[in-house]
Amino acid sequence: MATPGASAAVAHGCRRGVIYMVPWSRSGTYFGIFLLYINALVWALARVGLLSGRGRCLLSPVNTQPENASLAAPEREQITTAIALYRHSPGPLLQILHAVQERLRYVPSGAIALIAEALNLSRAEVHGVVGFYPHFRRTPPGRQRVQVCQAESCRAMQCEALTEHVKQRLGIDFHQTTADGRYTLEPVYCLGNCSCSPALMIDGELHGRVTPERFDVLMAGAGCQAGSSAP
Ligand code: FES
Repeated sequence: MATPGASAAVAHGCRRGVIYMVPWSRSGTYFGIFLLYINALVWALARVGLLSGRGRCLLSPVNTQPENASLAAPEREQITTAIALYRHSPGPLLQILHAVQERLRYVPSGAIALIAEALNLSRAEVHGVVGFYPHFRRTPPGRQRVQVCQAESCRAMQCEALTEHVKQRLGIDFHQTTADGRYTLEPVYCLGNCSCSPALMIDGELHGRVTPERFDVLMAGAGCQAGSSAP
């Protein structure tokens, strides 16, 4: 027989031949009230923008600074021009991001707030799109790009070994830039040179059948010493 406050008391009934059971206990009631409080708290945080990034963060004084405060005037002008060009186009966010990167060679943090405000999006939404596509750079690239193909044909021709050698030679990983700001290393997925795999591109110049030794020769020609990108 169930007693008041029992932890596993059960109310049950029958409707259209289906027996249903409703768990009931005092601890269940407390848990339900707790969930209601959590719901109310999440709703309140969302209202002040703490969860979405739209509003002012109440917990961190750092976020009270505008994200675009560090933008130089020429950068800000390029970004606002890109926004003005595409804000009324269909799917404007990606077009604006492409235009910003084309003009500045990367998407500065300061651009996020400007774009979000112009498109009535949260900063978190814009951050999410920039972070989703490896194409968009968050830091300025090096003066020269080294792109190593990672697609099927090049993989069949041991591009992994070449890639490891390139990383070791430059002292950086993919999506990184050498300390002197000279080279940025990027993966690329087919350079249209499959018959001469493995392939890579150095500052826009295509090279096929590249071995680690040949890469060293190419870099020596560019004035890069082993283990350093300095000329
Ligand atoms: S797969 Fe590497 S160039 Fe096509």
